[in-house]
Amino acid sequence: KVVNKGSITWQAPSNIALVKYWGKKEHQIPANPSVSFTLNNCKTTTTLNYEKKKSPSQDFDFELYFEGKIKEDFKPKITTFFKRIEHYCPFLKEYHLTIKTENSFPHSSGIASSASGMSALALCVMSLEKELDPGMAEEFFNRKASFLARLGSGSACRSIKGKIVVWGKHDGIASSSDLFGVEYPGKVHEIFHNYQDTILLVDKGTKQVSSSVGHNLMHGHPFAEARFKQAHKNLEALTNVFQTGDLDDFMELVESEALTLHSMMMSSRPYFILMKPNTLEIINKIWEYRERTGMPICFTLDAGANVHVLYPEKHSEIILEFIKNELVAYCENEQYLCDRIGDGARRIEN
Ligand code: PMV
Repeated sequence: KVVNKGSITWQAPSNIALVKYWGKKEHQIPANPSVSFTLNNCKTTTTLNYEKKKSPSQDFDFELYFEGKIKEDFKPKITTFFKRIEHYCPFLKEYHLTIKTENSFPHSSGIASSASGMSALALCVMSLEKELDPGMAEEFFNRKASFLARLGSGSACRSIKGKIVVWGKHDGIASSSDLFGVEYPGKVHEIFHNYQDTILLVDKGTKQVSSSVGHNLMHGHPFAEARFKQAHKNLEALTNVFQTGDLDDFMELVESEALTLHSMMMSSRPYFILMKPNTLEIINKIWEYRERTGMPICFTLDAGANVHVLYPEKHSEIILEFIKNELVAYCENEQYLCDRIGDGARRIEN
């Protein structure tokens, strides 16, 4: 089909890993399987305007606007992405593209926008492909969107769908793949259906270690093999927890995964400490509060100092009170974001 011009908008969320992806092989193949909660409020909205070029050229031809302004310094990242997906999307070079993107969370909040940003862009590219091939099946669309997003940023492949997404081949999950994320196919206890994630912004500075540098530190890491095995085991254990709804097991697993991620960085060469003093203050406060009240509240961490506080919705009033009274003081400018498990990306009609 010939398509001359048009416009496509997608809104895609961020995600928070419970079993962490840390370490990769060539072509963005993960060294171990991971699983995440898709978020709901932290998201990127991207519009792709496309117009067929009069004469074909050998270059990707695009302009990039971030929050309304031309953004030259983001362009190399997008060019790299386009080059990686070129083989799978040869039609891209036939169009002049204008990409307009914005995040729902504050710029440089220390919240990585790569997962939401790359998945939103991958979905726009897929919608253009669907214009050219209207008969495309929905499952193919979603899988390929996740496949492309993975090539932009590994964890982005877990942001297409909700509410729980697995990425990376795992023996216990037949549909799982190293190439794209899939909705967790097993039974999920209702306690997880509305799980809350309050993100405490401890340090809004730019990341000390980019995730690609971080993943590379797992090459030749003395504990790498043991870690990759452990991730398989933890994912298996978590699939039981999803079914039973046992929150004690859930919290232990999730916190252990977060601390393992950080301990991998502390024990690599070069080594890094990505937590800040206030990260530890918050963790200790959470443990103290849990001990004192029995409330099912736990934390997880990304490759940075911010803390994700996880808890079931039915306790959200009382836990949010605790967060506001006792934890927010440790955040930079007292900033935090309230999020929850979500259903994945959605197309916005222009
Ligand atoms: O998607 P990347 O390459 O930015 O890696 C993200 C890695 C972690 O966020 C630390 C863990 C994860 O599984 O999301």
